[in-house]
Amino acid sequence: MIRHGLVSCMAFLVCCAAMLTASESSAAEVNLYSARSHYGSEPAFEAFTRKTGIRVNTFGGSGQEIFERLRAEGDKTRADVLVTVDAGNLWNAARHGLLARVESAALAADVPAHLRDPEGRWFGLTLRVRTIVYGTQRVRPDQLSTYEALGAPRWKGRLCLRSSSHIYNQSLLATWIERSGEAKVEEIVRGWVRNDPAIIASDTKILEAVAAGQCDVGIANTYYLARLLAKDPQFPVAPFWADQAGAGVHVNISGAGVTAHAQNRPQAVALLEYLASPEAQSAFADGNFEYPANPRVPAHAILRGWGTFRQDTTPVAAAGEFQAAAVRLADRAGYR
Ligand SMILES: [Fe+2]
Repeated sequence: MIRHGLVSCMAFLVCCAAMLTASESSAAEVNLYSARSHYGSEPAFEAFTRKTGIRVNTFGGSGQEIFERLRAEGDKTRADVLVTVDAGNLWNAARHGLLARVESAALAADVPAHLRDPEGRWFGLTLRVRTIVYGTQRVRPDQLSTYEALGAPRWKGRLCLRSSSHIYNQSLLATWIERSGEAKVEEIVRGWVRNDPAIIASDTKILEAVAAGQCDVGIANTYYLARLLAKDPQFPVAPFWADQAGAGVHVNISGAGVTAHAQNRPQAVALLEYLASPEAQSAFADGNFEYPANPRVPAHAILRGWGTFRQDTTPVAAAGEFQAAAVRLADRAGYR
């Protein structure tokens, strides 16, 4: 009797252990709020699931929408990870207490220090390069040098810019404020304004305006140009690496942080570590023609064709810290 009882008890334990393992693995998931979802599917998430068995559930929205949602949901949120574009948005989420500190040797090794939060609440996963673009049929690269030189008289009536109300340009000015101070940045912006820039509502439309001859030079994120070139290799616009004799070309990030109320924190940290690793970086960056944040990983072939460049290593956290100052500065300088 005793032996029989012991055997059935052991059988029960084995059975339950097996059930527990099965239910644990089927419950292994991580929930993302992602502002990158409009760029299409993320093959890197699928590769993560194949590798770890952890399912990735993505809920999309604009950067502003998912920030508001995360804030409204508080500790009831199902989001474990916030994935968003622009360091200004990540900085703002951290400032509102929506992101938790992560200490990870892997993330510290894979993400350069200027592309992550000094306090470990967010990490850059792709690099977004915002530089000068020019019409290859009307402009020679030796006529170009710095962002500031777009304020020279030769570009009067030939410059296209995105509005100063867009976060990409606010972050551009904000990182320059951190680096060079407000007076210098205001001088640069006043130069652009003197050239009566056409204010255009999207980076893609700026590139199309340059191609069509509506303007000859502009400032845009390179992934938009790569997208157009992937469709039409003859598209007559090229990037020019700005400020190479000075601080280098302006960079921003898309990146991620673990939420303050994550229910699946270990899975969330594992996902971030995977996305920053050499194994995943190409897939994650190439999907949107961005540069890998991890400097050990080569960029997409279209981007490699543009050659290498020196990037501004001012910490991208400045995009958040000086965002309000950048908005005031643009107003003062008459940059719409
Ligand atoms: Fe964009």
